[in-house]
Amino acid sequence: MNNSMDRYAVFGNPIAHSKSPILHKAFAEETHQRLVYTSQCVDVSLFIDAANTFFANEGLGLNITVPFKTDAFNFANKLTSRAKRAGAVNTLFLDDNKNIIGDNTDGVGLVNDITENLLWSLKDKDILIVGAGGAVRGILEPFIGQHPKSITLVNRTVKKAVSLSQEFSDIFPIEACSFSGLGNKSFDIIINGTSASLTGDLPPLPSSVIHSDSNCYDMMYSKELTPFLKWAQQNGCKNTSDGLGMLVCQGAESFFIWRKIKPSTTELIKKLRKIL
Ligand code: ATR
Repeated sequence: MNNSMDRYAVFGNPIAHSKSPILHKAFAEETHQRLVYTSQCVDVSLFIDAANTFFANEGLGLNITVPFKTDAFNFANKLTSRAKRAGAVNTLFLDDNKNIIGDNTDGVGLVNDITENLLWSLKDKDILIVGAGGAVRGILEPFIGQHPKSITLVNRTVKKAVSLSQEFSDIFPIEACSFSGLGNKSFDIIINGTSASLTGDLPPLPSSVIHSDSNCYDMMYSKELTPFLKWAQQNGCKNTSDGLGMLVCQGAESFFIWRKIKPSTTELIKKLRKIL
């Protein structure tokens, strides 16, 4: 390795599946930045040691993936507002005083994919978000920043949706409900933020949530249509997307934080789609 190059890395466990090295190599080539980006499988009990060693050896920034996003939240010297709201950190960077700052680019990555790549507007829209776990917590603040008309949070365990909505009540009135509590209401944008697709399951949504112009997005991605997107298409949804673009856009946002230059994402999403 060339020690004079600026160094970045992704920490996770497992890490072999991570697409982050591919993303950041492509971003660096496109924007003509000289840097090295590696992946590191960190022992689950040694995150703090590994992160301290990385920054002590003049590493400039880290991406953090499963299972360390809460450890990184606790490790950072300071947090951005969106990381505080998300309760999780996926990006660490140094400020001018060498403080280690924790940020979260997952939500802004999703919003950028939706508004810039898919060209779906969120402004004044009725939005349904399915799930109330860590992934959903991470996207709520950037969604609220798009000035939707309403946000409804539906979750299998309804009390988790209620308590998550209350955490955001100072900035936006999120409605929380159970699947049966959705009644016949339809939505402009429906986001699946559950982990149900991972096990091939489908959240029990009534088909009435889809109207003729609804757009459906699954935060998971896969080579085949996810069960949620298959269900959406079978129920008349014309515009669907999985979360491959979210993955690329969260990486682009981390790259922007580190290098102050924003890489483009559209072509890279197409390239990655081919090798899934
Ligand atoms: P993540 O970090 O991916 O958000 P999580 O915090 O464990 O993971 O949250 C998983 C979310 O997916 C939860 O909202 C969960 O619903 P519960 O809170 O009721 O457990 C939701 N989920 C997982 N499998 C599901 C399924 N088969 N149907 C509906 N919701 C499901």
